[in-house]
Amino acid sequence: MWLAEKGLDAYTRAPSVAIRIPMFTGTLPFSIQDRPYIALAPMEGLMDGEFRELLTAVGGIDHCVTEFIRITTQVLPAKVYYRLCPELHNSGKTLAGTPVHVQLLGSDPEMMAANAAVAASLGAPAIDLNFGCPAKTVNRSMGGAVLLQFPDLLHRIATQVRAAVPNHIPVSAKMRLGFNDKTLAIENAQALASGGIQWLTVHARTKTEGYKPPAYWDWIKQIKDVVTIPVLANGEIWTPAQAAQCQQESGSDVLMIGRGLVSTPDLALRIKQPDHVPMTWQQHLALLPLLATKLPDITDKQLVDRMKQWLHYFSIQSAELAQVFEDVKRERDRAAFFAALQERIDS
Ligand SMILES: Cc1cc2nc3c(=O)[nH]c(=O)nc-3n(C[C@H](O)[C@H](O)[C@H](O)COP(=O)(O)O)c2cc1C
Repeated sequence: MWLAEKGLDAYTRAPSVAIRIPMFTGTLPFSIQDRPYIALAPMEGLMDGEFRELLTAVGGIDHCVTEFIRITTQVLPAKVYYRLCPELHNSGKTLAGTPVHVQLLGSDPEMMAANAAVAASLGAPAIDLNFGCPAKTVNRSMGGAVLLQFPDLLHRIATQVRAAVPNHIPVSAKMRLGFNDKTLAIENAQALASGGIQWLTVHARTKTEGYKPPAYWDWIKQIKDVVTIPVLANGEIWTPAQAAQCQQESGSDVLMIGRGLVSTPDLALRIKQPDHVPMTWQQHLALLPLLATKLPDITDKQLVDRMKQWLHYFSIQSAELAQVFEDVKRERDRAAFFAALQERIDS
């Protein structure tokens, strides 16, 4: 009943019409030497163009993915793509030269395909499909992780997007291990791979498991064993030791990191370069006014909230920064907030 209301009953059966999958003629980004390859995860409400610019300038990040762009019943105008991916004005790269892939979230294969074609025409270096978002509002309107209950729909979306995007531009997908449980994890991965995508990112938890540790990296290995495309391992990598353990358990040296890179901006360098000298906590703190200079169009309150949001992530990994967060978290006034920060940066 519910499936019929949402128009999804057809996807509980095998698709009757086979769509021909065009041959991918581009190159995969993973052939670089400095393994592990590290992608910066998409993070809606957090990882915007300004933040990507700063983190990719710190170094070690091989590609980024935009926050999801919600696709419903229309082809979005170019200005939406430019707003969520300002790097499209710079050949789809951050100022540091790191490619930024455009992520779409939606359930209608035709609309996803039409929008993917627009993003590609604007210069997106790759299109990523979101099958992992756990947000209730998004899931209620049939977007994100809820679609993991319908492998055939995943396949159809992948196939139609692949067919709509020029053959040299990669199409990828990002999935969780399932909605309520992991029973369809393998089937979903195979459905996406056979839909013609170039790689798959797996956030190694179900929607129900949310963001609660652990991440089940061994499941990434199970998926990797049954598909021939590269599989990016994602979830709970906060330290170089966890990156190594994730590579070992998942069998993948292509990683995607989200909160770990927000919390420790030089984490990718720490993972890749054993002789890298870690940034000090004062250097971490100095990134905040730097980000502020890139955000001229927001109110003082929004700016201070944004700074506290990042400082809170810093505080996860550093006792000194946890203390700074405690000291300034009640400060509302912009000038006083930055004066307090500067005092500590100079200390
Ligand atoms: C605030 C926030 C927003 C997120 N937004 C997105 C998103 O827009 N698209 C997406 O595919 N995943 C999104 N995710 C999931 C992350 O990309 C990633 O899969 C998850 O955080 C696990 O990786 P981590 O442990 O390295 O952070 C979001 C996560 C967080 C914490």
